[in-house]
Amino acid sequence: RHRQRIEDLIAAMTIEEKAGQVNLLADPFRWMPKAVNPLDGTGSPARVTALIREGKVGALFNGIGAEAGRRIQRVAMEETRLKIPLLFAADVIHGLSTIFPVPLAEAAAFDTDLAYRTARAAAIETAASAVHQTYAPMVDVARDQRWGRNVEGAGEDVLLNNLLAAARVRGFQGEKGLDDRDAVLATAKHMAAYSAALGGVDYNTTDMSEQTLRGVFLPPFKASVDAGALSIMSAFNDLNGVPTSGNYKLLTEILRGEWGFEGFVLSDYTSEQELIAHGFAEDGRDAARIAFNAGVDVSMVSGLYLEHLPDLVRSGEVSMGRLDEAVRRVLTTKAALGLFDDPYRGTDPEREKAVVGARKHIELAREAGRKSVVLLKNQGNLLPLDKNQKIALIGPFADDVDNVWGPWTIWGDPERRVSLEAGFRAAMNNPQGLSLARGSDVETSLPGGIDEAVRVANTADVVVLAIGESQRMSGEAQSRTEIVVPSAQQALVDAIAATGKPFVILLRNGRGLALEGGIKNAPAIVVTWFLGEQMGHSVADVIFGDHSPTARLPVSFPHRSGQQPYSYDRKNTGRPANPDLAEQEFTARYRETPNTALYPFGFGLTYGDIVYGPIEMETNQLPWAGSISVSASVTNQGRREAEELVQLYIHDRVASLTQPGRLLKDFKRISLRPGQTEKVTFTLNPRQLGFIGADEAYRIEPGLFDVWIAPHAQGGVTSTFHLVGPTAVADGG
Ligand code: IFM
Repeated sequence: RHRQRIEDLIAAMTIEEKAGQVNLLADPFRWMPKAVNPLDGTGSPARVTALIREGKVGALFNGIGAEAGRRIQRVAMEETRLKIPLLFAADVIHGLSTIFPVPLAEAAAFDTDLAYRTARAAAIETAASAVHQTYAPMVDVARDQRWGRNVEGAGEDVLLNNLLAAARVRGFQGEKGLDDRDAVLATAKHMAAYSAALGGVDYNTTDMSEQTLRGVFLPPFKASVDAGALSIMSAFNDLNGVPTSGNYKLLTEILRGEWGFEGFVLSDYTSEQELIAHGFAEDGRDAARIAFNAGVDVSMVSGLYLEHLPDLVRSGEVSMGRLDEAVRRVLTTKAALGLFDDPYRGTDPEREKAVVGARKHIELAREAGRKSVVLLKNQGNLLPLDKNQKIALIGPFADDVDNVWGPWTIWGDPERRVSLEAGFRAAMNNPQGLSLARGSDVETSLPGGIDEAVRVANTADVVVLAIGESQRMSGEAQSRTEIVVPSAQQALVDAIAATGKPFVILLRNGRGLALEGGIKNAPAIVVTWFLGEQMGHSVADVIFGDHSPTARLPVSFPHRSGQQPYSYDRKNTGRPANPDLAEQEFTARYRETPNTALYPFGFGLTYGDIVYGPIEMETNQLPWAGSISVSASVTNQGRREAEELVQLYIHDRVASLTQPGRLLKDFKRISLRPGQTEKVTFTLNPRQLGFIGADEAYRIEPGLFDVWIAPHAQGGVTSTFHLVGPTAVADGG
């Protein structure tokens, strides 16, 4: 509708104004209350406001708020020559004010509808706070738990990443069009292979085959684009010698040429400037030229485009056509967001008050939290706990509220954070039966802490140990060499284990962990991640049995840190080690540690007792143009109702390029009453069985396949089938 207006604007713009339109600046102060905000009348730094007046800023990020948004938008609409509205963005990663579980935790729910609903709620709050774009979802497949940003993504599996990326994009953008008052523009980030940093060190180099890139790391970006994402963030890392923020093949040939992406690409916080440190550009001017010509349309923070694009265009090193194209993409997105019709969208303080932190969002946070809790171990059915028992709640997270949100929470309401203590007291029939001890700090021991904890433990029927990582230990730039619970807390757990009291471990974590000593050998282990503001209630819902655990690990928990990088879908090698034999010389294995995970991808118990019957197939021939049904009967032999997440895996035995030992292809959730059996049937078709071939195309090859119906990536019942027909190149995955 605004096509002509956009062309007229481009025709009217000076080169400097065009460079301004692709200049994105941080404006993180706007949301602060006026009393503590030292900045100018708009709430933004005077420098930023002056640049806006000159038409030198196209977008701002990490300032929120209806009133503040109106003030700063007014500068663009009333004090600039061309009156082009500003685009406001923010890092709304797992909620704006209402804080939901961190994305990795929510991935454990294996629930696309839940991911859609939390993204939707986050979008409603965000859009009402004068923000038009979120820098989410992060769709980097994460297979090295040393890397700190696992916490922001959907874990190690490609299919789960694809499904959650699409659900989150749809949730943020809504179904009614970007100009709907409740929609925010989604940004799939960080393209690409950022999570494959060598050694798990954030920002480090990545180096991988084209098959791994296209088969593992790119699919969630493609899924995001297919779901309608109109913004992509490039990454910090070097990829096979070409930094991603200067990578023409990635950002133009693949993203636009192959996938038909029509939105805009932005850099990640000076990543275009960092081409200099990478050794890929000589100086700021060179960096701007390379990044812009590679396909980074918008520069975040560095100001390099503003400074150098006019001269680069005049000298012919960047074409005017390329500059117009980038400006057109930005203006078209602004038009799609409805900003040309209503530049002040989202600036109504009444609406902001009504939807930000709305009751139903808070209830959703509690629901999402309990659906993200993973039960790893439950010896002797220690869980659920009896609400009448005397419970000792021990550990640095027992009464803590500073680590319930998890990383990337800027605008949450601290008053709404629910500690474990508060959640437990609210759930227990006799709250006086709860006693507390800290026992240890997160990374350092407390003088007398362990003695006090042991004393408190001895007064209780059961001990609950709330231990793990603080929220500062995961997230950006928070790589770890050892993915273990810090030693001070390990000592606390070992001391409690020595008392002989039954005890439950509640693990707080932003990554898969290697469990040791008293933690590994505990009778009951529960993964609680960072569940967001309602954490205490969500955990209590599970621990006291009001909700039977339903979540599964989206990342493997290895035996030892040294197994990283690790993912369940590794290849067999020429000398596969037999997991059932301890001693095997000259096989692919470690001296001290099995190749398997302690708790694999997909693992999670319920309060039931689930048993899988054998695979049933009417035929084991899958015709090229058809499909095949694979079934198994699943029974709950326990005494409590359970929801089982039934998973389908395959293995292509022989192919023109070697294939993973197992690959998730589907999953289904079923509810089973005690004693109930349900037959679960999956349908597979040839398009699900292909891979990226040597020629970089998706290939489907005939042959023998293993199939598993399984409770996790290391178990299940198995059979085989044949795909019959010709080799084919197709769209799929
Ligand atoms: O969106 C983030 C990104 O994920 C990491 N660097 C900073 C950006 C903006 O805050």
